[in-house]
Amino acid sequence: MLEKGYIDKPVPEGIDIIKAIRNLCKDKNAVILAHFYQDGDVQDIADFVGDSLDLSRKAAETTADIIVFAGVHFMAETAKILSPDKKVLLPDLNAGCSLADSCPTEDFAAFKARNTDHIVVSYVNTTAEVKALSDICCTSTNAVKVVESLPKDQKIIFAPDRNLGNYINSLTNRDMLVWDGACHVHEEFSLERILEVKKENPEAKIICHPECQKPVQIVSDFIGSTSALLKYVTEDPGNSYIVATESGILHQMRKANPDKTFFPAPPADSTCACNDCKYMKLHTLEKLYNCLKYELPEIEMDEELRLEAEIPIRRMLAI
Ligand code: 13P
Ligand code: SF4
Repeated sequence: MLEKGYIDKPVPEGIDIIKAIRNLCKDKNAVILAHFYQDGDVQDIADFVGDSLDLSRKAAETTADIIVFAGVHFMAETAKILSPDKKVLLPDLNAGCSLADSCPTEDFAAFKARNTDHIVVSYVNTTAEVKALSDICCTSTNAVKVVESLPKDQKIIFAPDRNLGNYINSLTNRDMLVWDGACHVHEEFSLERILEVKKENPEAKIICHPECQKPVQIVSDFIGSTSALLKYVTEDPGNSYIVATESGILHQMRKANPDKTFFPAPPADSTCACNDCKYMKLHTLEKLYNCLKYELPEIEMDEELRLEAEIPIRRMLAI
């Protein structure tokens, strides 16, 4: 049934898919958690939309029996780690993450073994195996707080995102050893093309996610996690913004600020939709429907691994 990583069945003809999904949620006591990078229709049907930190908190505290995660694999895995007694479903198992993939467990374990006097801070965009090798997790929302919770002279490994790691180094005055990983979406933004948009719209403020490369960070008026970017454009008196992060966030920005203008920052390759995360965008209403109906694909995890990976996530949530 899951040869393709999702249930490939047509939805019954003539049904109102939105109503049908909501009814399935009600009947099965299921909750849909969606990340800001999902397509607008998936965000709109969710019980809760948020950044990776909010979503992990929601997953930890929900009373639902089933969590449907409209996000990527490491996010659903985090939900399972925090709520092992719940059924955690991911509508399409192919929803991976290039950043998590840039930190293979064996290579990371060897790196850690060469630096045994270092504490490991890992961004949640990692596999459960890498979390199990970590001392504490962070997200882009709380990375500064997490790093600052450690003694000033503590040696730290930060993994896996080099751009976020270097940014946190600059904010906290630390010299963390940064793993050389990156996200395919945030590395693709072109400084030249962003500046062209700025030239045509000089009043527009440039805002970016800290996973973007340093030249993009330098020209930005504001740098922050997805929820921080959303808060910034909502509270800022400005009227237009060039947004250098995955395009899904524009949906919430436009909803909260219908009178403001948002330009997606252009990627280097003008022929691709590289500012769409190809993994996040795999989930569709049809896949959500089938996933709820058949309660598949389900995230399963070895209990020993889950217990090890839970420690750094709980330490993060306690901060
Ligand atoms: P947030 O932590 O800002 O939600 O970002 C997650 C992510 O995948 C960024 O690419
Ligand atoms: Fe991973 Fe990048 Fe997609 Fe975020 S945008 S989920 S870091 S691949």
